[in-house]
Amino acid sequence: MDITTTESTAPPTEATTGTGSLSLEDAIVAAFMPESRHNPYPAYEVLRETGPFVPGPFNLQIVSRYAEADAILQDSAWSHAQEPEFLHPESDGSDLPASFLWMEPPDHTRLRRLVSKAFTARGLETLRARVEEVAAEIVDNAIRAGEIDVVEDLAYPLPLTMIAEMIGVPAEDHASVRAMSAGIARGLDPDALLSAAELKSRVDGAQHFREYFENLVAERRAHPKDDLISGLAQVEAEGDRLTTGEMIATLTVLLVAGHETTVNLLANGVLSLTRNPDQFEVLRRNPDLALAAVDELMRYDGPSHATTRMAVRDMEISGHSFKEGDGALILLASANRDPRVYDNADRLDLTRYARSQSVPRHLGFGVGLHYCIGAPLVRMEMEAMLRELARRGPVMTLLADPPPYRPNIVVRGIAELPVRFEA
Ligand code: HEM
Repeated sequence: MDITTTESTAPPTEATTGTGSLSLEDAIVAAFMPESRHNPYPAYEVLRETGPFVPGPFNLQIVSRYAEADAILQDSAWSHAQEPEFLHPESDGSDLPASFLWMEPPDHTRLRRLVSKAFTARGLETLRARVEEVAAEIVDNAIRAGEIDVVEDLAYPLPLTMIAEMIGVPAEDHASVRAMSAGIARGLDPDALLSAAELKSRVDGAQHFREYFENLVAERRAHPKDDLISGLAQVEAEGDRLTTGEMIATLTVLLVAGHETTVNLLANGVLSLTRNPDQFEVLRRNPDLALAAVDELMRYDGPSHATTRMAVRDMEISGHSFKEGDGALILLASANRDPRVYDNADRLDLTRYARSQSVPRHLGFGVGLHYCIGAPLVRMEMEAMLRELARRGPVMTLLADPPPYRPNIVVRGIAELPVRFEA
C-alpha cells in the first residue's frame, strides 16, 4: 500500500480548533477521556492536522485521516485478530466473546457466511413492515408523552426489539439482555480506562450470555422456530462447521452490536436534528431524503469512533515505517470529518449524499473484510424513524445541551437526552 502525501509527518505543537487552541498532548488526552465525550471533534482536528500518524496510547499509531484509515481497513496486511492483546492486556480479552469480528480468514469467512444471508437488504425486506410499525408507535408515544428521554424512550426500543426478534430472544428477556449488553459495550474500551467494577461487569455480562444462550439453544434444538438461534443450532448439530463456543459468540456479538450501536445513532441523530432545525425542516419537506440522511448522520456523528489493526508484515505508508506487530488505532469518526475528503466536513447537510454519487462513503460502518454486517438493518431502522419524524414533524426542543455522555470510546453515545416533543 502506498498513500502519497505531500504533508509533513512532523508534529506541530498546536492547532486552532472550534473551541480554541489545543496542544497535541492535550488533544491526545481529549480524544480518549470521558470529559470530552460530548465533543471529541476539536481534538480529532488537531490529530488530523498534525499528520497521518501520531504516536498514541498503548503503543499504537493514531490514524485520524480518511485516506490512511480507508487504506489500512481494506488491506489484508492489517489484521483485526489482535485487538484483545492491544486493548485488553489485563484479561487478554479472553472474557470477550470470541466472535468473527476479531478473526481473519478462513475462520472469519466461515462464520460470517453462516449469518450473512439474514442481514442482506433482500433478506431483511420481510421485516420492513414490522420496523415501520414499531417506529410509528415510538414516535406516536413520544408526541403523546410530550417530554421524553430520547435514549430510553425513542432510541432503545426499535433496535433492541428488531435484533432480539431476529435472533429469537423472547420479549420477556429484552430488559435483561439489554443490561448484559451494556457491560460488554463498555468493556470494548481499553482495560486501562475501565474501573474494576466495569471490568467485572464485562466478565459477568459475557458469562451471563454464555449461560443464557446455552439454555436458549437447547430449547430451540427441541422446539425449532424461524429464528437465527434455531438456524445456527441446526448448523452446529449437522457437523463440523460451527462449534458451540463459536455459536454462542456469534449470537452474543449480533445481539450486542445489533442494538448498542444503533441506539446511539438514533439518539445522536435526534440531537443533530434538534441542533440544526434547518436540516430537520429540509427532511420534513422531503421525507424521501431519509435514506441519504442516514448516511450523512452516520458521517457527521456516528457512534463507532475507534477500531484497531495490527500489521502482519513490515511496510511503509505515507512516509511512516511499520514493523510486523505494530498497531494502529483508527479513528473512524475523525476520518468522517476529514476536510481533505468532505466539503464543509463539520457541517450537517442531509442532502450531501443525495446530491452527488461521488461523495466518498463514510467509514462509520468500517470498510473491507469487517464491514458492518448489520448496515442494511441499521439503514432500514433509521430510515423508518426519520420518515416517521418527518411525517409527524414535531417541534423538538432540547432540554439539556450538551447532554451527559457515557464514557465509552469505541461505541460513543449519549447517556440521557431529554427532549420536548410538540405536535
Ligand atoms: C449504527 C449502528 C452500527 C454501527 C455504527 C456499526 C459499526 C460497525 C463497524 C465500524 C464495524 C467494523 C469494525 C472494524 O472493522 O473493526 C462493524 C462490524 C460489525 N457489526 Fe456493526 N455497526 C452498527 C450496527 C450493527 C448491527 C445492527 C449489527 C447486527 C446485526 C452489527 C453487527 C456487526 C458485526 C457482526 C460486525 C463484525 C463484522 C465482521 O467482522 O465481519 N452492527 N460495525
